[in-house]
Amino acid sequence: MNIRIFDTPHEAGVYAAALAEHIIKNRPKPVLGLATGATPIHFYQALVRLHQYGLDLSRVTTINLDEYIGLGPSHEQSYSYFMQKHLFDHTNILPDHIHLPNGIATNLEMECNRYDGIIQKNPIHFQLLGIGVNGHIGFNEPDDLLQSKTHVVRLQLETVKSNARFFNQIEEVPKKAITLGVQAILQSEQIVLMAFGPEKANIVAKSVLGNVRTDVPASILQLHKQVTVVLDRESAKQLVDEYGNLRTELKRMDNS
Ligand code: PGA
Repeated sequence: MNIRIFDTPHEAGVYAAALAEHIIKNRPKPVLGLATGATPIHFYQALVRLHQYGLDLSRVTTINLDEYIGLGPSHEQSYSYFMQKHLFDHTNILPDHIHLPNGIATNLEMECNRYDGIIQKNPIHFQLLGIGVNGHIGFNEPDDLLQSKTHVVRLQLETVKSNARFFNQIEEVPKKAITLGVQAILQSEQIVLMAFGPEKANIVAKSVLGNVRTDVPASILQLHKQVTVVLDRESAKQLVDEYGNLRTELKRMDNS
């Protein structure tokens, strides 16, 4: 696991976009696994900027992590809408290359299977992740077990409360979502987990320094060979010593 700490989320986003650029340039058919939420916006801004400076994204396939059940692509809080607004509207990613779970599918089981088929056909080279305050990745919530495949999940109260900041009122937050399972995440070639702000400091420390536990889903990333954790100073607070340097045990983990 590599830990990179930046002064600002903007700088962190630029770094993560540079990691994606490397994949995009070096693969004939790059596949990016993408995330939504406040955190990855900095990554998308930087990627759009790289595109404006000439980075071609026409060969890129995108596979998003999750979608709310009940929200169609025209709903402003759907993840489909989010992706259009922050990335797809500003780049030359082809509409045919864009994949998100369909949150208004009539048969959700079939939709989960369809999505797993897409992932099988397009193994992910670069998986971008945020992290919930409860440690979720995608919408894999803390539980006694973590599901391998794409599945329907009931969101935990903590997640609903946290996501209420994007809605007019908490009652409007969908209670269910479709999410990629942990298998697809762990099978991706490279993972970049981003987290910013003091409210993420505790869960970042638990995920990176603690034991691997299903009630801290992000801790499972410790089992993956190529993970970069991209933080700002606030979210990294518990990973550094009094001088702001990475704690010794974390330096030893660095495999970059
Ligand atoms: P956030 O969400 O970036 O809006 O904090 C992260 C997540 O829940 O994965």
